[in-house]
Amino acid sequence: MNKLLIRGAAVVNEGNIVPLDVLIEGERISTIAPAITVSNDMEVIDAHGKHLLPGCIDDQVHFREPGLTHKATIETESKACIAGGITSYFEMPNTNPQTTNADAYAKKLAIAAETSWVNYGFMFGGTNDNLEQIKAIDPKKTPALKLFLGSSTGNMLVDDPKTLKEIFTAFKLPIAVHCEDEQTVKNNLATYKLKYGDDIPIEYHPDIRSEEACYLSSSKAIALAKETGARLHVFHLSTAKETALFSNELPLSQKQITAEVCIHHLWFSDEDYAQKGTHIKWNPAVKTAHDRDELWNALNDDRIDIIATDHAPHTIEEKSQVYTKAPSGGPMVQHALPVMLDCVQQGKITLEKVVEKMCHNPAILFDIEHRGYIREGYFADLVLVDTNQSQTVTRDNVLYKCGWSPLEGTTLKGTVTHTIINGEILYNQGVFASTAKAKQLTFVR
Ligand code: DOR
Repeated sequence: MNKLLIRGAAVVNEGNIVPLDVLIEGERISTIAPAITVSNDMEVIDAHGKHLLPGCIDDQVHFREPGLTHKATIETESKACIAGGITSYFEMPNTNPQTTNADAYAKKLAIAAETSWVNYGFMFGGTNDNLEQIKAIDPKKTPALKLFLGSSTGNMLVDDPKTLKEIFTAFKLPIAVHCEDEQTVKNNLATYKLKYGDDIPIEYHPDIRSEEACYLSSSKAIALAKETGARLHVFHLSTAKETALFSNELPLSQKQITAEVCIHHLWFSDEDYAQKGTHIKWNPAVKTAHDRDELWNALNDDRIDIIATDHAPHTIEEKSQVYTKAPSGGPMVQHALPVMLDCVQQGKITLEKVVEKMCHNPAILFDIEHRGYIREGYFADLVLVDTNQSQTVTRDNVLYKCGWSPLEGTTLKGTVTHTIINGEILYNQGVFASTAKAKQLTFVR
């Protein structure tokens, strides 16, 4: 059995930062101790001066396969994950075909089994008419159900109140929701179209996909979850107003209603539209600096539970069109952890909290088996980072199939040096292993 010893790193885990040695045997962590004796059957990584983190688990990515592979593939984007320290992901159902029945679900899993570089799970998509398929989901292999309560890329709006109530009542696993009130967005868009036609200045995006649209939809979803007892997870909060809908009174494992925030809503504000244009057009929209500040506060006081990317690549040609034609979304998995490491340097969050929100909490919230922590017996999904090493994002060094990043030109203090997945070093200071060792995620339910 392969033995790999990581020596002398500052191990960031379960609220502490402690210098420890970590021994991996095969796919799992076998021993964690202050000093492990080296033997000649061990490969050794000298990690003095670095921090060792559990691999990040991204609960929301769009990898576009099948059907939209001119934008991205499971292979290309999961490889970019490795360079960014993301060792597991949940991919979304708005592909083509949509992942809304057992057959499409099985086909997507088969593609991932062949090509994914990192551990994978797929959210099942709800529609106005697939309740029977939803009821047949395997809880041990499926992280959650995804519902678009506002339409975005892929036309997956679920807007029939009777169906929604049936789904919320019947489904016992987490229901992850995209919340933007459809009618509010439609009305706002019509107003701006009257004035500007298709070429609406991007600065109005947060007025079209407005605070009110977000709040109305997320508060409705929460009310329905309270009425039905559903386990609700609200994706990508973008407004200060919505943060008041969430509580920090219970530990995560006991919460019925939870929330996620995405890297772009923590990093950008409406002040960036002038420079970045439609490259930072997302649904929900990036909003004001005040909204961003309040998202940080809610993250740090535990009303927000998870940090994710909503990695959503489109080609640069698609993104460079006029407002109404430019699709929403942008790629992020390669730089999500470095962005957060930079935010640690800026004093916005502690490193322990980053690990809680990007590693531990996704594992708790979705009951992921034996991942998300640095623990003996757990899978060895690990990331070594150098918090002093800076990197500048350029079009030349992005790994995404779409070949661009909304962070181009940004220098981030914090770099992933090694990524280990299921006990194998897959990324070593810029060099990738030649084969992947990814597994389908399993859930203890
Ligand atoms: O900006 C977004 N893009 N938000 C979503 O909800 C979907 C995503 C996409 O798939 O492009």
